[in-house]
Amino acid sequence: MRLLGAVGAAAGLVAAATGLARPFPQQAGESPTADRVELGRLLFFDPVLSADGSLSCAHCHRPDRGLGDGRRTALGRGGQPLARNTPTLYNVGFKAKLMWDRRAASLEQQVLLPLFGKEELGADPGRLVARLAAIPRYRALFALAFPDEALSVDTVARSIAAFERTLVSRDSRFDRFAAGDRSALDAAERRGLALFRSLNTRCFECHHLPTFDAPLSMGIGVPSDDPGVGAISGSAGQLGQFGIPTLRNVARTAPYMHDGSLETLDEVIDFYRKGGGRAHGVSAERIHGHVRAFEIGDDEAHDLVAFLHSLTDERARPRVPEQVPSGLPVLENRR
Ligand code: HEC
Ligand code: HEC
Repeated sequence: MRLLGAVGAAAGLVAAATGLARPFPQQAGESPTADRVELGRLLFFDPVLSADGSLSCAHCHRPDRGLGDGRRTALGRGGQPLARNTPTLYNVGFKAKLMWDRRAASLEQQVLLPLFGKEELGADPGRLVARLAAIPRYRALFALAFPDEALSVDTVARSIAAFERTLVSRDSRFDRFAAGDRSALDAAERRGLALFRSLNTRCFECHHLPTFDAPLSMGIGVPSDDPGVGAISGSAGQLGQFGIPTLRNVARTAPYMHDGSLETLDEVIDFYRKGGGRAHGVSAERIHGHVRAFEIGDDEAHDLVAFLHSLTDERARPRVPEQVPSGLPVLENRR
């Protein structure tokens, strides 16, 4: 046992020396308490948050779809398509800014966008609070979670944010490999990891370990009319830039990119190896210098995809409640 421990520790040191074993950043915001997390989970699944009782957060952030929805772009209330692809919620607690265009500065702030957005839940603040306060089970749960505060939009947002901070994914096979267990990745996945970290592909320059995202926006030239971060910052230089998305659980969240235009990870690798938007006539000014055509064989492309599959860990996948306090149907197919 002692010997095994020493070998494990030595392998751990090797992994640390290669820069793989990096600590996760601290989560921003209030630490979640168990009562708030449970309340937040119920609210997340409860269509009572939507104006007409038809839609919940979980309709778009589905537990069986990596907390995305598997659609090219999201389907809003009444079935109209929205402009962007639904991102995963795994590890959102570690992000400094949220949304593809980074317009929300905290989870608490973000919740208000889908909650009151006309095309999404379309709630009205006063009516929502009155409706929740009229449901005895919610009254009791809010009193437990926020003993000194009245039920309000603020406590709704804080409990949902507390729930979201529990959606942590950091025990994938890659993580076990990074901690020193060499058998956690097979040969193809290890070759894929080396390619990911190579100056040839430069993937690691933007998708930083250990979260595989970065608190930055970049242009890679996905061809679309969406102005992205440029419309929020007002800076022409940021037109067509988007927040760098995480790659954790990426095998579960097809299709890809802010507009869902790439259907598979093979298509994503193909897009990058041809130089990103450069191959689609997107102006070079809108494409970061780290995105350049690179030569890799088809076998190597498959290795990269195999590596991306090793970033899957859905242990924090939320349980779907059998019923929610409003009594409305949970995750029922929408019209
Ligand atoms: C109609 C589908 C839909 C519903 C309902 C919905 N979302 Fe989203 N969610 C999206 C889309 C699409 C985006 C990306 C929007 C953008 O970037 O402009 C998103 C983005 C997010 C993000 C940012 C993730 C990141 O990495 O930046 C969070 C957090 C989030 N949603 C949480 C929620 C919560 C909480 C609810 C319920 C209050 C909710 N969503 C309801 C579709 C939806
Ligand atoms: C210059 C920074 C940069 C580099 C280098 C880079 N990426 Fe990205 N990546 C991004 C940005 C920004 C997006 C989102 C772009 C968009 O939606 O228009 C993205 C999106 C993705 C997505 C889609 C994720 C999702 O949830 O939709 C995958 C997969 C991906 N990158 C993998 C890679 C791989 C593999 C490499 C190396 C071949 C790589 N990236 C290199 C910045 C970068």
